[in-house]
Amino acid sequence: MLGFVRLNRPKVLNAINREMVSEILAAFEYMDREENVRAIVLSGNGRAFAAGADIDEMADEGSIDFERLNQFADWDRLAVVKKPIIGAVHGFALGGGFELALVCDILFAAEDAKFGFPEVNLGVMPGAGGTQRLTKLIGKTKAMEWLWTGEMHPAQEACDLGIINRVVAPEVLMEETKKFALQVAQKPPLSVRLIKDSVLKAIDYSLYEGMQYERKNFYLLFSSEDQKEGMRAFVEKRRPDFKGR
Ligand code: CAA
Repeated sequence: MLGFVRLNRPKVLNAINREMVSEILAAFEYMDREENVRAIVLSGNGRAFAAGADIDEMADEGSIDFERLNQFADWDRLAVVKKPIIGAVHGFALGGGFELALVCDILFAAEDAKFGFPEVNLGVMPGAGGTQRLTKLIGKTKAMEWLWTGEMHPAQEACDLGIINRVVAPEVLMEETKKFALQVAQKPPLSVRLIKDSVLKAIDYSLYEGMQYERKNFYLLFSSEDQKEGMRAFVEKRRPDFKGR
């Protein structure tokens, strides 16, 4: 029912290289198509969630390499996965690691988690959505401060600013994340999917465009068996049996 993806280059604090992005993408896209998987849980093995893009891989590369490799094409595809992605973050979530966390729909973090964009200290800046997603989440003023200073911020601050959903003790991080993911997994999958689709559109669209979009998704759900089942079950005072159709 849940799909698990664990970043696993602990010796380099799960620094994200290209191979890793394409493996994460392959796993997400497989789970997105797999009917039994209702939600995806993403976490990191070892001391960190991920301490950024792999600096060793990038250090000697030039802009033409990035253009030729279409460096962020896989990242773009991560952002259009339709099923819920729930992140469990502990330790460092920096640079590309933070950007990967921001691709998640819901974030649980351990008290020891640290978030930040240190790219400025390397003479670069975030390239996988960091300046855009952080600004949309916490506003221009705070985002500018985080991005210019490159400082790390504790989980509680990230939670207070609305970047993450919950801060929990490190020893219960996976358990609490799974509990939440299972809660979502038990909801009618088409509703969950079209809610994600609509909420993500709210980030890009004007209110008017977003409302039109929401309406189409609302109408669409009335073509589903789960809508009939959900409403019939309510009238008949029984538990609904949702099938995802
Ligand atoms: N890339 C490659 N290797 C990394 C790495 C990264 N982003 N982060 C950590 N590592 C490696 C270290 O080189 C080290 O390897 P060795 O044992 O072979 O020396 C190993 O992971 C352990 O790291 P540290 O010894 O540095 O551990 P620490 O606890 O002393 O420090 C840290 C932890 C503060 C996170 C530090 O590792 C660090 O500053 N890492 C880099 C963070 C960073 O700058 N991230 C942004 C990358 S650029 C980016 O992400 C661009 C983008 O937007 C796409």
